[in-house]
Amino acid sequence: MAKLYNQLTEYSKSDMYPLHMPGHKRRLMGEMPKEFYQADITEINGFDNLHEPEEIFVELQEKVAKLCGAKKSYFLVNGSTCGVLAAISACLPKGGHLLMARNAHKSAYHAAYLRELKVTYLWPEFIPEYPIYEAITPMQVEKALEKDSTIQAVFLVSPTYEGRIADIRAIADCVHKHDRLLIVDEAHGAHLGFDRRFAQNSVVQGADIVIQSTHKTLPAPTQTAILHVNGDRVPIDLLERFLHIYQTSSPSYLLLSGIENAYDLVEKEGAQLFERFYQNWIELLHQLEACRVLRFLPRKDDRNHDIGKLIMDTGKTMRSGQWLFELLLEKYHLQLEMAAGSYCLAMFTIGDTEEGYERLAKALLEIDEMLLAEQKTGIRANLSASLDAEFQNTPRDREDDENALFKAWDCPKVEIPLEKAEGRVAGEFINLYPPGFPILVPGEQISATDLEQLQKNLADGLHVQGIVKKQANYFVKVVSEKI
Ligand SMILES: Cc1ncc(COP(=O)(O)O)c(C=O)c1O
Repeated sequence: MAKLYNQLTEYSKSDMYPLHMPGHKRRLMGEMPKEFYQADITEINGFDNLHEPEEIFVELQEKVAKLCGAKKSYFLVNGSTCGVLAAISACLPKGGHLLMARNAHKSAYHAAYLRELKVTYLWPEFIPEYPIYEAITPMQVEKALEKDSTIQAVFLVSPTYEGRIADIRAIADCVHKHDRLLIVDEAHGAHLGFDRRFAQNSVVQGADIVIQSTHKTLPAPTQTAILHVNGDRVPIDLLERFLHIYQTSSPSYLLLSGIENAYDLVEKEGAQLFERFYQNWIELLHQLEACRVLRFLPRKDDRNHDIGKLIMDTGKTMRSGQWLFELLLEKYHLQLEMAAGSYCLAMFTIGDTEEGYERLAKALLEIDEMLLAEQKTGIRANLSASLDAEFQNTPRDREDDENALFKAWDCPKVEIPLEKAEGRVAGEFINLYPPGFPILVPGEQISATDLEQLQKNLADGLHVQGIVKKQANYFVKVVSEKI
């Protein structure tokens, strides 16, 4: 395949003089490699237009749709972010009513804000004994749709950032029984469906729109993503209108050919690449079974966990997730994806070599030995208990004002010291980043538990967006008037 890429490289060798954008004119590269700029063009003759595809993009998008089992697929260059914005905007009228998983990425909240949606949250449960959200269940969706007939669409994340996979087939059946639309944010699942031993993707399981970040779990450049449409329920005209609105009018051909290249690779070499991925992953999990204090997800035979997402949990030790994250970084030169209270997350894809698996396994076995010895000395023995409590107390049952988000975000605000914030109404999103879903949404009242959790996150050195640090003090923006 790699048709677009070949066309770009052929063009870069031709004598065609560029009297058009981009401004580097395929000539001034600075210190960048010349291949990068020579193939960087815009919508010139013979290269089609992503926003009104007639030639090569029709062909490429159809090919990907076929590979992924979709009716129609769209290449995205503004990440899954613009796919989520466009999908929610197209599936609900302004002021509509969305049922949304509370662990959704901030882009879903931004869509709700822009379209002034009423939002009802589905709070995921925790996995027993782990401080990790489980995926939303069919039963939760069914109950919410039974309870409120004004809901127009359902938005879920699967796999979650931590790798939990929802039963999308059962959820799609339930949503369609109620004649509603199902959007699945599968930003972390672009690799799904290419090997029979992994979960299927949400497209073939019946979701109406599925958004995948090709850059996260396939070998495609950062910013690239795909939006798939399934069946006949989605208003295609509106979807395309919103893709026009949220996507740049100058999509990068380098990024677009990077999407093409990733699927080309999957088509030609997927069988070997996924086999190797699977074998390395299974071997890693097998080796980690020897650890005595560190705990891992997936557990044995856990079919609801995504391949490649390894949760390393320190909850039964005297150390935090951030401590493990930093130790792996500084001593072993292993850069993880993220750390939270008592766990951290490593990500593997078909792009990994054996070296990555081997180095992580060796490091974790060594650290486990050390932690076991430390545990015997009993130093800092209270830490794990307090970290567990932090998550058990997360305010999952809070009753929210369902219209508060877009009202509160636009309200006049004041910045106050964090320690004085209890009882005030959040004026900004407060997110742990990564993963990027909110602890507090504008319009929500800040409880004592929220405050305690935020202070603990900050003390652990985690990156909390929405909290401002001035000298040694933390401040938060709250709504200054009643809304
Ligand atoms: C669940 C989820 N959805 C959507 C996104 C946005 O994806 P992108 O970075 O491709 O815009 C992210 C990013 O981390 C995410 O974790």
